[in-house]
Amino acid sequence: MCSIIGYLGLNQAAPIIVKGLKRMEYRGYDSVGVATFSNNQILVRKGVGKVIEVNKSVRLDELSGTVGIGHTRWATHGMVTDTNAHPHPSSTGEVAIVHNGIIQNHEELKKDLQQKGYAFKSQTDSEVIANLLQYHYDKSRNIKQSIVDTVADLKGDYAFVAVFEDGTLAAARFHEPLIIGIGKQGYFISSDVLGFVEHTDEVIYLDNMEFVIIGNSGIQIFDFNANPVQHQITKVSKEFADVYKGEYAHFTLKEISEQPTTILNSGNNTKLELDLATDFIRHAKSLYITGSGTSYNAALVAKFLFSKYAKIKIEPIISSEAHFSPDIFEQQSILIALSQSGESADVLEAANIAKKAGSKIISIVNIMTSSLAHLSSISIGLGCGPEIGVAATKSFTAQLATLYKIVDKISEGSLGLDLVKVSEAIKKSLSDDSKAKIQEIAKKLKDVSDIYVLGRGIHYPIASESSLKLKELTYIHAEGLPGGELKHGPLALMDSNTYVIMINPEDSTYSDTLTSAREIKARGAKIIGISDKPSDVYDHWIEIPKIEEVMYPLVEIIPIQLLAYYAAIEKDTDPDYPRNLAKSVTVK
Ligand code: G6P
Repeated sequence: MCSIIGYLGLNQAAPIIVKGLKRMEYRGYDSVGVATFSNNQILVRKGVGKVIEVNKSVRLDELSGTVGIGHTRWATHGMVTDTNAHPHPSSTGEVAIVHNGIIQNHEELKKDLQQKGYAFKSQTDSEVIANLLQYHYDKSRNIKQSIVDTVADLKGDYAFVAVFEDGTLAAARFHEPLIIGIGKQGYFISSDVLGFVEHTDEVIYLDNMEFVIIGNSGIQIFDFNANPVQHQITKVSKEFADVYKGEYAHFTLKEISEQPTTILNSGNNTKLELDLATDFIRHAKSLYITGSGTSYNAALVAKFLFSKYAKIKIEPIISSEAHFSPDIFEQQSILIALSQSGESADVLEAANIAKKAGSKIISIVNIMTSSLAHLSSISIGLGCGPEIGVAATKSFTAQLATLYKIVDKISEGSLGLDLVKVSEAIKKSLSDDSKAKIQEIAKKLKDVSDIYVLGRGIHYPIASESSLKLKELTYIHAEGLPGGELKHGPLALMDSNTYVIMINPEDSTYSDTLTSAREIKARGAKIIGISDKPSDVYDHWIEIPKIEEVMYPLVEIIPIQLLAYYAAIEKDTDPDYPRNLAKSVTVK
């Protein structure tokens, strides 16, 4: 989603802001802009494209001034144009803002402000914040009062940072993240610690419905009723500093390669919470699990694990659908909410609906300071470190590993979980030989228009996740199917232009899946077999190590993540930042 950032300090603001925006580009990235306060005026530069491109053409980082704000935009209201890019100045130019979120009542506010003589240039909902601040500031000439009045008028979810005509920085938070960094040479405000982590590890997490005013005399925090609020300064974990690609060409490849370690770490920092969650789940009246995208695919694996090994029914719910069946949740039920970011609006909505119905929320998140972690009764940390690549990789296997641990505990070890063994198996799939082979196969996918991924039983959720990775990274149409459904329609689509990936380890699903492979082959489609056993039916065989059936999901997803990554390289798409997508979708 959009990123916002602000800086006030001793140094030039623009270069710091541009660097911070680059770090946060993963959140959303169709346009970018910076505004600074210099010589008693607010200067704005912005444009369509990536930070690096826009910076090259309009030299964002050369804006002068030691106070500034910046933004990367992921369009919601209004096309991707230079004018719609942030920052948005008010019509008199005395204040400029950057905004993340959605202002629901922007149309009526805009009409009202236009009638009062405030002019608008863009089609965005965000510009209304600039003019509303200006309107209230015109009345009181008091920054604090203008923010109190503005947030009272706004409806929707938002975080914004504003710079005023006297060089004061102000920011407010309503259901969107906002973090303050306290550096030796200045203050930072950002949607994500990544925006300033190289400058300071001392932070204040603003609570919902709070705002901050930062001026040369220091920092003041208030709630939306204008009462002063005191906050502890906390230190962010050192792992946040680990946001460089290092030897890797892309974050996605780095994150895929980290999985032998990250699956071992999952839940380790929150062992007590994991035990407590296990206990809660054992005694729950009914159990649900929710997530979006990759996290939902992890929920599908959980359904299989809970029913087969813990003999507990658990109902997976696509987070964005919860809104349409709110009566599903009941008193004393438990909702397990899965989310890497902990900020996906759909997941937060599902959790809030369940909470309202009297359910307890157990979240499994990577960002322990996220909104989802805050609203949960228990929160378990994935502990897999920052995931920058938009397509989830290591967070998916960390989610699985955590769910495996929970089920293994509940079922008193019936899973026979051995994550060290899994970790060794993943290492084999990441060997140079294995990568070279996958790279060769990826070349064949370059001009393919359709890929189907088939898996039965516990492998179906992995087929679904595989198709998601292929879509996100390669833009090739891909579909994950339960193997048995082939004959109920998709077989009609098989021809010599189609590739089918069969997830087919030698377990209880093996012979049925092999039969499907033969049916597909007879229609001329090409087959990539992911298996520990070779077969003449595969046009290409990607070998995976042998392991117990229940643990295959953690192993078999690795070569498909690599395949999607290498196919993206072949197609010359950017695997870290796929077009039109954002890592954390904080709007509905
Ligand atoms: C976005 C990302 C997906 C991700 C989904 C859920 O759509 O592009 O890759 O799986 O959000 O994210 P979460 O942070 O809630 O797990």
